Amino acid sequence: MLLIKLGGSVISNKANYREFRYAAVESIASNLPKRDLIIVHGGGSFGHILARKHRITEGYKPWKTEGFAKIGRDMMDLNLRILDILLENDIPAVSFPPHAYHVMGGEMNMRIFEESLSYELVPLTYGDIIFHEEKGFDICSGDYLMLQLARRFRPEKTIFLTDVDGIYDRPPSLDGATLIPVVDEETMLQTSLEVPDVTGGMEYKIGMMRKIAKYSEVYVLNGFHPERIKNLMEGKKFVGTVVK
Ligand code: IPE
Repeated sequence: MLLIKLGGSVISNKANYREFRYAAVESIASNLPKRDLIIVHGGGSFGHILARKHRITEGYKPWKTEGFAKIGRDMMDLNLRILDILLENDIPAVSFPPHAYHVMGGEMNMRIFEESLSYELVPLTYGDIIFHEEKGFDICSGDYLMLQLARRFRPEKTIFLTDVDGIYDRPPSLDGATLIPVVDEETMLQTSLEVPDVTGGMEYKIGMMRKIAKYSEVYVLNGFHPERIKNLMEGKKFVGTVVK
């Protein structure tokens, strides 16, 4: 099985509210296996811009309800665009919005994922606004969902698609940034961190990936070169980072 996350920086232009990258998603979809697959996507500019503005991760306040609802709508909009493209590419995806099946702090409901897979459907879920047992409101990141799904389903391979070639030794926009082919305990300590987003930035993401590595092989690939997914799946050479 393959578990894959389409990062928000690949599927949207993070600088422009709700700017979707149709061509990028289309070419990713055409490189994915059609069965034995779980897909998660991030929020990008459909999620993070309003989440930051309304400080959703700080929890519920009466003035935040409209923002919470709007992010829920925007994420469904993004999700539907992705779902359309998957279906056009003969991937029988069924979408599950986290705010409708999970409350943060409690056990995650895996039943719908198990059922989907048993019928050879492809479960599709995403980073979302969510209710939280204590804080009331929160953001559920796609990376958190990746960890829960990897723990339950133990996919052979887990792939994170980003807008750069993999994990770098410093923010990739800086001069001299070099791709790290393997991230493990040692390289981790030397990696500088990007500006944090609402769900915690690079440190959080790499931490999640390293936890997932207990259950699956973990790779970070460039979503703008999706043929690398195929190369990896076929055991050929690929450009990217392996996380251990
Ligand atoms: C964030 O999900 C979802 C919202 C902000 C609503 P992620 O944290 O997984 O999204 P990306 O991949 O970083 O954009």
